[in-house]
Amino acid sequence: MKKIMLVFGTRPEAIKMCPLVNELKARPEFDVGVCVTGQHREMLEQVLRVFGVEPDYDMSIMKSGQTLFDITSLVLLGMKEILEDFEPDIVLVHGDTTTSFAAALACFYLQIPIGHVEAGLRTYNLKSPFPEEFNRQAVDLITNLYFAPTEQSRQNLLKEGRDPQSIFVTGNTGIDALATTVRDDYENEHLEWAKESRLILITAHRRENLGEPMHCMFRAIRRLMDERDDLKAIYPIHMNPLVREAAHAELDGCDRIKLIEPLEVLDFHNFLAASHLILTDSGGIQEEAPSLGKPVLVMRDTTERPEGVAAGTLRLVGTSEEEIYKQASRLLDDEAAYAEMSHASNPYGDGTASRQISDILANL
Ligand code: UD1
Ligand code: UDP
Repeated sequence: MKKIMLVFGTRPEAIKMCPLVNELKARPEFDVGVCVTGQHREMLEQVLRVFGVEPDYDMSIMKSGQTLFDITSLVLLGMKEILEDFEPDIVLVHGDTTTSFAAALACFYLQIPIGHVEAGLRTYNLKSPFPEEFNRQAVDLITNLYFAPTEQSRQNLLKEGRDPQSIFVTGNTGIDALATTVRDDYENEHLEWAKESRLILITAHRRENLGEPMHCMFRAIRRLMDERDDLKAIYPIHMNPLVREAAHAELDGCDRIKLIEPLEVLDFHNFLAASHLILTDSGGIQEEAPSLGKPVLVMRDTTERPEGVAAGTLRLVGTSEEEIYKQASRLLDDEAAYAEMSHASNPYGDGTASRQISDILANL
């Protein structure tokens, strides 16, 4: 039996690794160990509950206001003991978080093969997203098996000299869940509240946007909302206290903006499907929205997801108040501009990524 360990710690990693955990566990040829670092707590637990995944190891490292030093050192040390106990044949890490980087580094030190799920995404700008671009590149330097979501990510890896035999284009596992979560008969009190209006869905959390850029983003949104009474906005706020402070400072006091707790993924996908426009700095949402044909203004200077921009659903608008306000106004006021951005496409796969990755692991 092949011993496979999956390591993850934050909400987006869990959303994209849990479908794979369940697929691998359903196959008798694998002995599957799930290790969570607990870089996130409540937001991680929400996802584990939805997918019915129970970790075999839980490091519970999260603390309020944690630094990159905290996360890296705790995960690196914690992983040593866990890897020595489970003795996996291969460890799967995901994407670009500090959990993934430190877990991969621990495997490298112990010379345990690494499979990188969502490998090969790049901005080639180490400051944006920070520190995620570094994490991705560093993990790919020591990865043995690359599961690239798209042809473009495969090309990035080839350009960096990775062995073509070790790269597999599988689509993104994040898309696997969408097929079952979005339902026509979905109901929710917040969506009921927004029913007669055009719904703007907001998320924001990036480290490089904390502080002034985030205030600018929220001020632009506040202006849009104050000027148009046919809009309602829902913002499930990330649990980072710095994000919460900025959001409340700029957005409180408008009765057409609802600041709510993070949504479970099933709910969030249905909120995406019900939205008119999405304003976000998230990575994962840039992959989900094109499948649903929902226009996204990406409040960042760079993206490692150029496929959604090429497909026409995503537009990079940076973090300046004026630019966000201008670009969003155009989409809200110009029907043709809006229609141009609202076509569904599937640049990130057909929803079979977990199955494909499991097949590849089985045939090793
Ligand atoms: C992390 C990842 C980022 C990813 C994001 C997804 C790194 C460096 N950052 O950023 O790549 O896009 O997750 O959301 O790996 N908190 C809670 N409860 C939770 C989660 C967070 O209270 O369930 C609070 C804590 O105070 C914590 C803070 O949020 O210290 C920041 O969490 P952290 O994981 O360090 O950064 P994120 O911005 O969430
Ligand atoms: N998401 C969620 N609840 C929310 C907001 C987002 O389940 O309230 C999901 C969303 O569908 C996507 C993922 O979380 O799959 C994105 O996570 P996040 O933006 O925190 O991280 P990133 O993708 O930027 O790393």
